[in-house]
Amino acid sequence: MKEIKVGLIGFGTVGTGLAEVLLSQRERLIRRTGMSIRLAAIADRSVQTLPERFRDIPLTTDGMELVDNPELDIIVELIGGIEPAKTLVMRAIAAGKHVVTANKALLSQEGADIFAAAAQKGVEVGFEASVGGGIPVIKALKEGLVANKILSIMGIVNGTANYILTRMTDEGAPFAEVLKDAQKLGFAEADPTYDIEGIDTAHKLAILMTIAYGTPITHKQIATEGIAQIEPMDIELAREFGCRIKLLAISRNHGDHVEARVHPTMVPQSHLLASISGAFNAIHFQGDTVGNVLLYGLGAGMVPTGSAVAADVVDIARNIASGSVGRVPALSYLPGHMQPRRITPMDELYGPYYFRCTVLDQPGVLALVSGILAKHEISIESVIQKGRKEIGAVPLVVVTHSAKESAIHAALGEIGRLDCVTGPVVKIRILEEE
Ligand code: HSE
Repeated sequence: MKEIKVGLIGFGTVGTGLAEVLLSQRERLIRRTGMSIRLAAIADRSVQTLPERFRDIPLTTDGMELVDNPELDIIVELIGGIEPAKTLVMRAIAAGKHVVTANKALLSQEGADIFAAAAQKGVEVGFEASVGGGIPVIKALKEGLVANKILSIMGIVNGTANYILTRMTDEGAPFAEVLKDAQKLGFAEADPTYDIEGIDTAHKLAILMTIAYGTPITHKQIATEGIAQIEPMDIELAREFGCRIKLLAISRNHGDHVEARVHPTMVPQSHLLASISGAFNAIHFQGDTVGNVLLYGLGAGMVPTGSAVAADVVDIARNIASGSVGRVPALSYLPGHMQPRRITPMDELYGPYYFRCTVLDQPGVLALVSGILAKHEISIESVIQKGRKEIGAVPLVVVTHSAKESAIHAALGEIGRLDCVTGPVVKIRILEEE
């Protein structure tokens, strides 16, 4: 029986998940591939001993040993971050090894170098686990939807942020406590600000956009806002407006320009994405031939993500065995057919908005606020003022009809500078149902 030898760099949450999956699914993979796919070496800087069931696998602290080991066919990089991950991946490629990575930060920033080197060397780079945890979203986009112009991408792709928002919504649990639980469950990034500030979501959207449109995008081109400013009051008010707050990755394809944005969004409860709870992810594509497609599953966690890494390893093993390495281009489009595209400036977007400001509870305040909105041609859909007090500040909440982002930006700037406004103005975009 043909044997494929895999070297794993990084025995953290996902690395352990891969080892578990390759072990628990060993017989099934033999029946499905006719090959023995063996974890032949593990490198991790801080792990001293492997769990009992993996003790026969050689362990080193030096990833370079694996990259330079001529016995290994595939290197799996699961250490995360840019360096030393990039050096290890580039050296593995230069050595003619196939690479599998879950490293969304690396691919969304340095993907151009990595994919160019891999194409030149004729090796594969699998990255299914970089977006959507266990959901086979990359394969769906590259293969299942290959005969489509992708018209839009919309998704919940950060399990930690969705877990936090869900528990804040369902239990009124405080942000900090829920974040700690997400860290314990192994969902959160090493630096959880990546989850909370939307950076991890932007990494993933950059990867999806690149393969959906055949347009090289880095996460730095994506307008990104996180969930840190969302307060329990906003969640409660969203409920009153028939919405749930979700951290969404959004891209619409306008042909010569494409939207690229990550921000908290008020999603109407009737929308499918409003019901995605906990660490679950969901990615919605609209294709010109297929129509609407929704992929749903666990977007983080040890074994689900291990399942996605294992799928890439199996894909590569099959391609090695059948002599069809490179059959599917890494980015779905052939390297010579990738085309840069303009990113739609945020100021040009239209949509309804929710905003909340804290105002002194005195006559004339509402007239001032509505006057500024009218001046910027922003039409109000509804207004709520909570908690009347004799003296003091109260939250004033406004929902607008569809307005231009640049007008909202200018109006909220003016409102924020009013003497009667005593705190920052919180703005949340509302998802318009199509
Ligand atoms: N921190 C990520 C999340 C892990 O919470 O979704 C999966 O990419």
